Amino acid sequence: ERHGGKAGKNASPIPFVDEIAQFYRSGAPAEIRQAIAGAGKHDVLDPGYPYRAEMDREEYDRRAEALQIELVKMLGDVIATGKRLVVLFEGRDAAGKGGTIEVMRENLNPRSAYIVALPRPTEREAGQWYFQRYVAQMPGAGEIALFDRSWYNRGVVEPVFGFATPAQRTLFFHQLPDFEKLLVQDGIILVKLWLNVGRAEQLRRFLDRAKDPLKQWKLSRIDVEGLAKWDDYTLAIRETLSLSHTPAAPWTVIRSDDKRRARIAAMQTVLGRVDYAGKNAQVIGSPDPLIVGGPEMLV
Ligand code: ADP
Ligand code: MLT
Repeated sequence: ERHGGKAGKNASPIPFVDEIAQFYRSGAPAEIRQAIAGAGKHDVLDPGYPYRAEMDREEYDRRAEALQIELVKMLGDVIATGKRLVVLFEGRDAAGKGGTIEVMRENLNPRSAYIVALPRPTEREAGQWYFQRYVAQMPGAGEIALFDRSWYNRGVVEPVFGFATPAQRTLFFHQLPDFEKLLVQDGIILVKLWLNVGRAEQLRRFLDRAKDPLKQWKLSRIDVEGLAKWDDYTLAIRETLSLSHTPAAPWTVIRSDDKRRARIAAMQTVLGRVDYAGKNAQVIGSPDPLIVGGPEMLV
C-alpha cells in the first residue's frame, strides 16, 4: 500500500508519478511488483541483497561521523601537500550517487572539494572532443572533484537512449584507457565508484521521489523512460565495466540497495585510496566484502 496504490487512485499533478505507477502495475515484471507490494518501509527488497534490513541508524550515524572526520583530515592533507583527487560516482538512476556525494562533502570546504554535475552537452560541446569538457573540470593542486556522473555517460545512458552513435561509443572505449592513464600518470588520484542498485529498490526510490516535493527534482524523463530499458542498461553496464576496469583505473562496485551501507563503503573506499597525515586505519576499517568488490559484484 505504500507505493502505487495511492498514486493510482487519483490523477496526480506531480510529474511522472502516474507513469511510474502505471509501469509498476502493468509493465514491471511480476517479481518486482510483488517485491514492492510486500515491502515494509525499511526493508531491503532485492532477495539477492546480502542483508535483510538497513544498517541500524545509530550505528550508521556513529560510523559516518568517524569517517567524515577522516575525510576532513584527508582534505587538510590534500591541501597541504597539493594532491589532486577525482572521485567518479556512477550507477543507474536512483543508485544513490547524489546522496553519497552529499554525505562525503558535508564537512568539507566547498572551495576545495567541489561537485561536478554537468548537464547534457551543448551543441558546441557535442562538436568537441568528447572528453574535453570533463578535462576542464579536473582539480588543481589541493582540490577534490566529486563527479556526479562523468564521461561514462557515453558508455551507458547515451547508447541506451540513442544519444551517441555506435561509432562514437566505439571511439570512446578506444580512447578511454589512455585518457584515464594520462590522468593517473599526471598524478591525479582517480577513484571510480559504481553504485549498484537492484530493480525493485530503484522503482521504490522513483515512487518516493515522485511523491516527495523535496525530491521531485531528481526525477526526469530519462528515469521514467529508462524503466522499460532495464535490460539494455544491464548489457551496457556490463560491457562498460569490462572495457574500463584497468590496472591504472580500476572500478569499485558498491551494492547500494541499503544507502547507509553504501555510503559507509564509499567513504571507506576513498579514504583507503589516499595517503594522508594522521590517517587512522582502524577507524576506516575494511569495506564489507558482501557490499564492495570489483565488477563481479554487479547484479
Ligand atoms: P540525472 O540522473 O543525472 O539526474 P537524468 O536521469 O535526467 O539526470 O539524465 C541522465 C544523464 O543523461 C545525464 O547525465 C544527462 O546529462 C544525460 N542526458 C540527458 N539527455 C541527453 C542528451 N540528449 N544527450 C546526451 N546526454 C543526455
Ligand atoms: C542518484 O540517486 O543516483 C542520483 O541522485 C541521480 C539520479 O537518480 O538521477
